[in-house]
Amino acid sequence: MILVTGATGTVGRELVRVLAARGERVRAITRDPGKAGRFPDGVETVRADFTDPASLLDAAKGVTAVFMLSAPGPWIPRHDEAVLAAAREAGVAKAVKLSAIGTGAKTNGQDWHLPGERALESGGLAWTILRPSSFASNTLAWAEAIRAGVPVPNPMGDGAQGVIDPADIAEVSVLALTASGHDGVTYTLTGPEAISTPDMAETLGRVLGRRIETVALTSDDYRARLTAAGLDPGFVRTAVDGARLVASGGNAVVTGDVERVLGRPARTFADWATAHRAAFDV
Ligand SMILES: NC(=O)c1ccc[n+]([C@@H]2O[C@H](COP(=O)([O-])OP(=O)(O)OC[C@H]3O[C@@H](n4cnc5c(N)ncnc54)[C@H](OP(=O)(O)O)[C@@H]3O)[C@@H](O)[C@H]2O)c1
Repeated sequence: MILVTGATGTVGRELVRVLAARGERVRAITRDPGKAGRFPDGVETVRADFTDPASLLDAAKGVTAVFMLSAPGPWIPRHDEAVLAAAREAGVAKAVKLSAIGTGAKTNGQDWHLPGERALESGGLAWTILRPSSFASNTLAWAEAIRAGVPVPNPMGDGAQGVIDPADIAEVSVLALTASGHDGVTYTLTGPEAISTPDMAETLGRVLGRRIETVALTSDDYRARLTAAGLDPGFVRTAVDGARLVASGGNAVVTGDVERVLGRPARTFADWATAHRAAFDV
């Protein structure tokens, strides 16, 4: 039995789908099964919350491997700790943690994934750590601006990133959870090319058949927007610092880890845009 936390999210839902299609037994966690939407037939859906240790322990009973994913924010270390404690108590053999590129290199004291990575490495379970780059699906946030025909705000300038298709992250996760040869390994998962926000706008525009412009957003304006949207101050600080890092070229990283694990090249941003064009509803 494989326990998937974050099962309703970007990577988790795709991971559940692929695991179920391969005939694996899957238990999917959500805080609210009523709102979780449909999982494939045979998938067990259980209510659990990272802030409720008893619910996590129940969910971990009879499980062989756990996929650890939490929503981005300063709470990630606490959530990781809670999942690992339940996994240890339930005798789970293996954990795969969805972390983030750049973990361990941050100097601003906001390395959300580092405590969980360290706990995993010394936690007594077999482990694999996945550090993905920026998700291609982040561009879904552009849909409103594209539909309205206004430029997409860009706080990252011309900074390039190894933007990755979440479906590739899910496929690597499947192998890390079910195949041998991945224990004790940290993978940095990127797409096959380093591309900037204007590059992505141009590619998406080609796929959608319309011109998509971007407009530069200063750090102060970006901070003001995120704060006005009611986001956690710790989240806002990290997002603004992250955008600055990207703009300065600090995340222009491309690795071959996806191809090494999957035996085929990582999908491009153009592949992702083509597969998801309907989500932009233009
Ligand atoms: N987006 C990127 O470019 C990027 C890049 C690198 C790494 N990452 C990492 O990827 C991870 C996923 O980010 P995402 O934005 O794509 O989020 P997501 O996976 O789409 O959504 C977060 C998931 O966490 C679950 N969750 C949240 N709080 C919970 C709680 N208290 N108890 C149980 N489950 C809870 C939610 O489940 P329910 O709502 O169903 O309960 C949901 O399934 C983050 O750790 C982020 O740091 C993201």
